[in-house]
Amino acid sequence: MTDRLTITRPDDWHLHLRDGRMLDAVTPDTAMHFGRALIMPNLVPPVVSGSDASAYRDRIMAACPDGASFTPMMTLYLTEGTDAADLVAAARDGIITAVKLYPAGATTNSASGVRDIDSVMPVLEAMAEAGVPLCVHGEVTDSEIDIFDREAVFIDRVLDPLRRRLPALRVVMEHVTTSDGIDYVRSGGESIAATLTTHHLFINRNHILAGGIRPHYYCLPVAKRETHRLALVAAATSGDPSFFLGTDSAPHLDTAKLAPCGCAGIYTAPNTLACLAQIFDNEGALDRLDGFVARHGAAFYGVAVNDGTVTLVRTAAPQPVPDDRMTPEGSLTVFDPMVPIHWAVAG
Ligand code: NCD
Ligand code: ZN
Repeated sequence: MTDRLTITRPDDWHLHLRDGRMLDAVTPDTAMHFGRALIMPNLVPPVVSGSDASAYRDRIMAACPDGASFTPMMTLYLTEGTDAADLVAAARDGIITAVKLYPAGATTNSASGVRDIDSVMPVLEAMAEAGVPLCVHGEVTDSEIDIFDREAVFIDRVLDPLRRRLPALRVVMEHVTTSDGIDYVRSGGESIAATLTTHHLFINRNHILAGGIRPHYYCLPVAKRETHRLALVAAATSGDPSFFLGTDSAPHLDTAKLAPCGCAGIYTAPNTLACLAQIFDNEGALDRLDGFVARHGAAFYGVAVNDGTVTLVRTAAPQPVPDDRMTPEGSLTVFDPMVPIHWAVAG
């Protein structure tokens, strides 16, 4: 039995760090374990220009602990007013790595998102030509579509037509939650990949709703039924380079989660690696963890893998869930996988 596992220093290809005091509180948790992270742009107001991204990058660097070797990779928030020339210049100058498409109203801070995909076609064409990847929040927002069906409907109505229209556009389907999404990415060739979150490998919709409502498991896309979770675990542990880690670690204060209309997002940065080691161990796939967390994403984004390593150790006693983080504005609960985790990051 392997009791120590050394992997390449990993990347998180989908991360929310927020701003201000929350940024200061959460950045160390990611910078401790990860070499790079793709930073989501859904601030209020969103990160829409190269200069916004560059200023946000500076604020993130200022929130990194001294000595951390962490590089934030920036994204722009696609709006119906996005300036294609500014976007392409920011990508060319290395300020941004990707652009994020949020359908308007799909999730936290998405009011500035895209209502009509036709209105952003010239920008998407410029991105395809310049080789800038589009990261997609793949859910329709129509109120008549059941929330558990929104990902599958998005693939049929929006994503597949878009990719047929612009086959050169490189797309990452973010935080895939269904077997429909997995199948679509598997059969989609080299121009599409998907991120998988930590929490969707652990929870299904019963965790949110059976035996009491648990707001800390509410996120978007919402967790689906168990058959879908099993498809996600199979994809993550398969070794297929189309799938890589994007934690979607999305901190919200407990006061915002535990409310009559609680907000979506799960904070997984502190225990993501330990949780993933447990899932890969359960599947007899520990040798594939390195690919999922450190290699497949780097290959898709065309960057070298990180220097350095992280060592995980198997522990006889289950590891406690990390303590709530205290921010000057209140507490922040860390993801509880609700199963024993016998792995920890060493040192
Ligand atoms: C994210 C957030 O809080 O910013 N929430 C979430 O449930 N995942 C937004 C997102 O990625 O959808
Ligand atoms: Zn997200």
